Amino acid sequence: MRFDSQFEPNATPLKGLNAITYGGDYNPEQWPREVWLQDATLMRQAGVNLVSIGIWSWAKLEPRPGEFDFAWLDDLIAILWEQGIHVDLATPTAAPPAWFYKNHPDARVITRDGTVMTNASRGMPSPSAPAYREACARITHALAQRYASHPALALWHVHNEYGAPVSDSYDDHSVAAWREWLKERYTTLDGVNDAWGTSFWGQTYYEWDEIPAPAQSATVTNPSMRLDYQRFTSDALLQCFIAERDIIRQYSDAPITTNFMASSCPAMDLWAWAQECDIVSNDHYLTASDPRNYVTLALDADLTRSIARGKPWLLMEHSTSAVNWQDRNVAKLPGEMLRNSLSHLGRGADGIMYFQWRAARFGAEKFHSSMIPHAGTSSRVYRDVLALGRTLESLTSHGMVGSATPADVAILWDWESFWAQDLEWRPSVDVSHRERIVAFYNQLWKDKITTDFVHPEADLSGYKLVLAPASYLMTDAASANIAQYVRGGGRFLASYFSGIVNENDTVRIGGLAKALEDVLGVKVEEFLPLREGDAVTLNADLLGVTGTLTGDVWADDIVLDGAKDVATYTDGPAPGGAAITRHEFGQGIAWYVSTRLHASDLAAVLDAVYADAHLTPERTLPTELEIVTRESADGRRYIVVLNHTDHEVTVPVTGNHGVLTGVSLDGATVLQPPVVGRTAHNRGETTHRDDTVVLPEPVAVTSSGVAVTAGGSAIILQ
Ligand code: GLA
Repeated sequence: MRFDSQFEPNATPLKGLNAITYGGDYNPEQWPREVWLQDATLMRQAGVNLVSIGIWSWAKLEPRPGEFDFAWLDDLIAILWEQGIHVDLATPTAAPPAWFYKNHPDARVITRDGTVMTNASRGMPSPSAPAYREACARITHALAQRYASHPALALWHVHNEYGAPVSDSYDDHSVAAWREWLKERYTTLDGVNDAWGTSFWGQTYYEWDEIPAPAQSATVTNPSMRLDYQRFTSDALLQCFIAERDIIRQYSDAPITTNFMASSCPAMDLWAWAQECDIVSNDHYLTASDPRNYVTLALDADLTRSIARGKPWLLMEHSTSAVNWQDRNVAKLPGEMLRNSLSHLGRGADGIMYFQWRAARFGAEKFHSSMIPHAGTSSRVYRDVLALGRTLESLTSHGMVGSATPADVAILWDWESFWAQDLEWRPSVDVSHRERIVAFYNQLWKDKITTDFVHPEADLSGYKLVLAPASYLMTDAASANIAQYVRGGGRFLASYFSGIVNENDTVRIGGLAKALEDVLGVKVEEFLPLREGDAVTLNADLLGVTGTLTGDVWADDIVLDGAKDVATYTDGPAPGGAAITRHEFGQGIAWYVSTRLHASDLAAVLDAVYADAHLTPERTLPTELEIVTRESADGRRYIVVLNHTDHEVTVPVTGNHGVLTGVSLDGATVLQPPVVGRTAHNRGETTHRDDTVVLPEPVAVTSSGVAVTAGGSAIILQ
């Protein structure tokens, strides 16, 4: 995707803040006023220009129903603004006060297995409870009216992470709203019965109030009904967001966002949600147990840019070091926080924000890292925070705000399909949409090919290659869209278990992958999932692959119908049968891969696909060197290079070099190994007390145009 035509490049959408935003969640309720004063000064020193406030403040702002106390918030914002810190003001509706639950016990969330959620933690009530919606409206009106014209206000932050920790609820209000949602979608009960195939297992509904929510049942619940309940849940939460947003809009022209968890919150269809936000923002946390978690970070950032339709977005939360909620909360290595931040930045983020500014002393998150850790400002983490602040200021001064991250390849991503595929009784528990998407994405990442994600019904024409690693559910519209793209010259690849059901989770007649079979030129007669641990061998002579390829998990019984088999099974359940096919369709080419290829074999197959798509993978630089480029409308380029290896890497930037083609710097940049011993790293640093912070030198752009930063990362400015 290139620039979205609607987007005005080089203009920040935040009110009064034309810079890469830097800061984090700030929870002043946990601290006395003296600390607020220190914090505002420290924020300014650190280059912080935006903090998210009020997220957990409902109980303090409205101690009794309808009785507001804004004096403390007025004071806090004044203190911040005195230091030039803007605010991202939240509506506190992710955690209603205790009085709400006492007065409205019927609004409590009931989980699928019937557990009633108490309020001894955070988490919203039932999204469909009228009392909750009324209470949200009241506090939102009050906040918007009071702060709309405050000069510190740059952004509105509605709620916090809709869908987590609460998404679907099975309380009475939800059941009533669900029936209304069904009336809206299907008009008649016949429509519902048809869509859900209720003639199966005698589930026909004759009255609307016979329809339950798909809570825990004796055995597998109707899958079409469950899929619709996911849609209903996403819509119910979205209604809550829209209601608050529209109230704010009555008073304020500042942009409005809500923080997503792009690839890690399965409850919401973010294609629909993103359209309702003025700017997309996202929270991302590394999975400590994954040694290559920087690849899934990149995936999440690319997905966020994609749902934002290529416009810059904000990283609303990530962590300076360890989180507190995984089994083993591994601290980040020196330099890792910077590389994480620059990866988000390279992939389109115009803001780098954290959870949170100052570490909590008490509560469930007291062991979560922060910008000011418990150790105080005399700490490695805080020095890294200061260094990053300087780096971002430097990049702002070099015009990075508003630039875009172009991509030639897209992977299909559809939450509705994932909801359907994740239900019970599928052909194999080893088939995971996430696993396949990560496998393909991982190879593109290693090949330094920037990738977008795209909805299957969206315009695909800007891409040289579209991949469908996991598109189980495919609508007729998506099927036609893909056919049109390939017919017009597009290059397309589908992996197994794609194009299987329509929007109601209903199988089409004639071939198991019917929605894609014309384009692929094959008919899938039968799924042939493999036993746990079994593998299949493929002969791929026709692809020029010497030796054999290996797959596992899956195979299909394929009948060729126009396609050529470029690899065949030599053993397993379909010996001699087609395993990988290539089909010339209209002006384009469509590939099908019917097994889970081992990673290196997937790379070999993708090489042939890249050749069809006129794409060149970068294979001369180290695999674990991340490269991603942003471009501004006036043609400037910001090439982010991150060294994830454990050794020094020299990046040749002279002349034309693969992904760095066009870079005409005279020389090479050496990226130090990122893993710097903590003791060595700290040796020689001036020890200082909180009130005598030593600021690092601002990052300089060298005469060769390389803004060298610490910890194995560089940004090359062109
Ligand atoms: C989420 C929440 C934050 C905080 C962090 C901790 O992203 O939005 O309030 O709980 O997780 O990692």
